Amino acid sequence: MSEKKHAVPAVGVVVVAAGSGQRLGRGIPKARVLCGGRTLLERSLDAVVAAGIATSVVVVLPQDDAVLSDVVDAAGRPGGPAVTAVTGGATRTASVRAGLDALPASIAVVLVHDAARALTPPDVFRRVAAAVAAGASAVIPVLPVVDTVKVVDGDTVTATPDRGTLRAVQTPQGFDAAALRAAHAATGPAARTATDDAMLMEAHGATVRVVDGDALAFKVTTPLDLVIAEAVLAREPADVPYLPHAAGRPTLDEQQEQPCT
Ligand code: CTP
Ligand code: MG
Repeated sequence: MSEKKHAVPAVGVVVVAAGSGQRLGRGIPKARVLCGGRTLLERSLDAVVAAGIATSVVVVLPQDDAVLSDVVDAAGRPGGPAVTAVTGGATRTASVRAGLDALPASIAVVLVHDAARALTPPDVFRRVAAAVAAGASAVIPVLPVVDTVKVVDGDTVTATPDRGTLRAVQTPQGFDAAALRAAHAATGPAARTATDDAMLMEAHGATVRVVDGDALAFKVTTPLDLVIAEAVLAREPADVPYLPHAAGRPTLDEQQEQPCT
């Protein structure tokens, strides 16, 4: 039976790509910026499709972006998820809401993913979806925090949280679809200040669980992040085997076995 190839039930994925990329400073929407010769959105959608968990993918785009609309149209694969586009809003939260509204009502599990996390390995999607399928209503991928973090008031440090209790949060974040829709429909202060969907769920009283994130799921935010992403693509094809450009290329181990010429 075809269902057996999936370790978890089918899910819907909302990929938010409607941001303007101010901090990257390219003067075009960030999702359209090239990384290793392909747009950040193409790379993000490659990973979503390669994860093999979704029946439906909604991509949230800037208004009237013909280039990104073409990327979405080209993302469908025979036997793969339906991939459609909607227009986003002024904030990330508004864009997520537009994506949720466009998902089929039958979707029970939703993953929300930043297109800017273009090198996220498919395993992260599978890990998050599996944890939601196992019963959690909200699941986020996290990494340990490597820097010491201070709380400041103006130019004065007021506290130093115990770093061991802190985690840096990534996407995809996974949710029970009905619970996420309810959290987005609520109109408390969190609706205006939330920087991720888990915050809305927390404000709505949900328990948020964590799973392991991945260093490659970093968000391309600044010009330095783009340099790092390009370097990863150039040097580590073996670490991102789902990327098309890696197909047929020798792994780093194989390269090291070649005699120097
Ligand atoms: N996003 C969105 N709609 C918005 C704002 C952000 O869909 N109104 C998406 C971005 O496209 C991105 C993700 O949310 O994939 C994370 O946002 P961020 O990294 O802040 O991207 P931008 O908002 O584009 O960048 P900046 O804040 O530097 O302008
Ligand atoms: Mg932003």
